[in-house]
Amino acid sequence: MEAIPYTRHQITAEDIEAVSDVLLHGALTQGSAVPAFEAAFADYVGAPFAVAVANGTAALHLAALALGVNSHAKVITTPLTFVASANAVLYCGGSLAFCDSDPATGLMDLDSLEHMLKQAKPNTYAGVIPVSLAGYPLNLERLRALADAYDLWVLHDACHAPGAAFLDSKGTWQRVGNAAFEEACTFSLHPAKHIAAGEGGVITTRSQTLYEKLCLLRTHGISKQPTTTRSARGNWYYEMLALGYNYRFPDILAALAHSQLKRAPAGLERRRELAQKYQEALADLPLLLPQSNPQLIAHAYHLYIVQTPLRDALYSYLHAENILVQVHYIPVYWQPYYQQLGFAPGLCPQAESFYQKCLSLPLYPDLSDAQQNHVIQKIRQFFDGK
Ligand SMILES: Cc1ncc(COP(=O)(O)O)c(C=O)c1O
Repeated sequence: MEAIPYTRHQITAEDIEAVSDVLLHGALTQGSAVPAFEAAFADYVGAPFAVAVANGTAALHLAALALGVNSHAKVITTPLTFVASANAVLYCGGSLAFCDSDPATGLMDLDSLEHMLKQAKPNTYAGVIPVSLAGYPLNLERLRALADAYDLWVLHDACHAPGAAFLDSKGTWQRVGNAAFEEACTFSLHPAKHIAAGEGGVITTRSQTLYEKLCLLRTHGISKQPTTTRSARGNWYYEMLALGYNYRFPDILAALAHSQLKRAPAGLERRRELAQKYQEALADLPLLLPQSNPQLIAHAYHLYIVQTPLRDALYSYLHAENILVQVHYIPVYWQPYYQQLGFAPGLCPQAESFYQKCLSLPLYPDLSDAQQNHVIQKIRQFFDGK
């Protein structure tokens, strides 16, 4: 059997046609495909504003900048994430603190967060960057209450979670990305993610002010708004109002992302079906399976992470069988760069224990029933030999 990766993007004839259409008839950048995608994405997640940028890392960087991160700002994030969630703060000259994780989900543990905030002197922290790891939506309503009590902004890294939702205390399903409880929310369009454009990212927000800042920062800080000076001097006149970047999202990729977005609900349904099958087929094995809690959350299953103390042996066994499982994540502050900054192992014991046990099984819409059965059979064989 050919190799089974832990994730794989899906490309259809419609995707190819959408990209060809831009190549043949559209602008390659700064054309109409980007605003069309932004409007469709905003609608999908239920946010008033969406800004598409070059990648998920750029989305985090711009959001952090727009929220005012600078050399005086200390920001709390989670160790169980891709390095970009934390790096965004460092790009802006800010500093970081890491909050420990819930041992079952790997998400930021809100009790630990509350403890950290209580222990700190007033105004120690400017904001918090939680991550909806693997597609499990963090309860942002509770986080918002903490953030309000300690005067923090919330930048939600939802790169894993488009399509996820959680039930709030009023019984309303809150879609991830609707920015109901956070200042801004970021997504990635990397091929490992639900909506694959090759590269790309999106920031959603409810704040018009933040939206306008993000649009400015995405393109060199240059304003195209009509100003009195502009109309006095001529249409060629432009002004750079802030130190921005070229983080624009090209139209070719916007067309691909838009086409992919149309299939996002179907992809989500298949991911949930595959997750349910794993849940049933692996229930009797000595593995901690992902929490599902369907009464309280709608999981987006970017990843299907199991936990076992035999992780390294299981990883090697499955790789020898051409099943390319993966580990998400090495705690960010274990990275040599972060160690040089002074962070040391032992800081977040629950996150470190999660890391030592976690393994992401293959999960993507094109994973066939036969392939999944094969994965299940090999995992069972591994435990039979124990
Ligand atoms: C949680 C998380 N945040 C941020 C990123 C960065 O996204 P990108 O690769 O699009 O820059 C990723 C992608 O790998 C991610 O998984």
